[in-house]
Amino acid sequence: MERTITQYIAEIETFSSLTDTDLEQFRLTYLTKNGIINQLFDEFKTIPSEKKKIVGQLLNQLKISANEKYELLKKLSEQTQSYSDNNSDLSLTANYGNFGSRHPMSLVRNEIIQIFSRIGFTIEEGPEIEDDWHIFTALNFQEDHPARDMQDTFFIEQQPDIALRTHTSSVQVRLMQNNKPPLRAIMPGRVYRNEAISARAHCFFHQIEGLYIDKNVSFADLKQTLLYFSKEMFCADTQIRLRPSYFPFTEPSAEMDISCTICGGKGCNMCKKTGWVEILGCGMVDPNVLENCRIDSSVYSGFAFGMGIERITNLKYSVKDLRLFSENDTRFLKQFQNVL
Ligand code: DAH
Repeated sequence: MERTITQYIAEIETFSSLTDTDLEQFRLTYLTKNGIINQLFDEFKTIPSEKKKIVGQLLNQLKISANEKYELLKKLSEQTQSYSDNNSDLSLTANYGNFGSRHPMSLVRNEIIQIFSRIGFTIEEGPEIEDDWHIFTALNFQEDHPARDMQDTFFIEQQPDIALRTHTSSVQVRLMQNNKPPLRAIMPGRVYRNEAISARAHCFFHQIEGLYIDKNVSFADLKQTLLYFSKEMFCADTQIRLRPSYFPFTEPSAEMDISCTICGGKGCNMCKKTGWVEILGCGMVDPNVLENCRIDSSVYSGFAFGMGIERITNLKYSVKDLRLFSENDTRFLKQFQNVL
């Protein structure tokens, strides 16, 4: 009997089939009521008592081996089956997990850049830490202009002449100082203002400045450029309207509205029932600014404009709370994963 049991143990050890029929056969052979193991236990009752110890141990070993083998092979067989049910290709390389996506602000900035590139505007950048002259003086701000107030601008304490730029208009000054007309550029960048953070205001945000300087540049050129931009950025039937305004560095100055992107002009909450939403400031570059940058204002003229990228993003994607842009909440950012 000992020999028979040892043979069965060896047989079980080498058994390795994963097919359903083989496994079922294995179960019927060893593990059922009428299977080999139960038969051996019946036989065990009849053997002489001096042999019981050794045979009993072997018999238990056989029972444990058979059960363990069966459980193991059954598990493996189920796993293999679920892989093939899913049509998984096991030869594929591992999944790298989630890819990141572009930030909505980058998407919009890139789109604005592309639109202006198509009509010959280059891209320029300037420093975020800037001197008073580039932010204010060269742009025709009077000494007592409220924007120079500590309330609005972050100055450097030890060096009151240095501040975080409050607008990207400072870059047009650098551009005019360092290059000869004709000039045609857009200038994207981050700007800072001393504001309490809320859904509608932030201490830093982003702007795109535009500048075009040449001989005979007129207000009609400004208007046509902005109409082209608005139609490209929003939709082909977008309309614009210019309202007289004031900026120290442009004369005349205007603020531009577009027909509301949400209601198409009928009136909704976005446009406060007016049908129009403001998107930028613009105007003809003041001759004083040209002269400050050593450009002859009797020969050259030009237009400038400046817009907030957050504002455009809000109109394009209805993002109502400015704070979302800098909180890095993946639930928000993920929603732009499929936007190209
Ligand atoms: N710098 C202005 C601001 O931050 C925006 C602006 C208005 C820029 C008119 C311009 C312009 O170039 O012509 O509010």
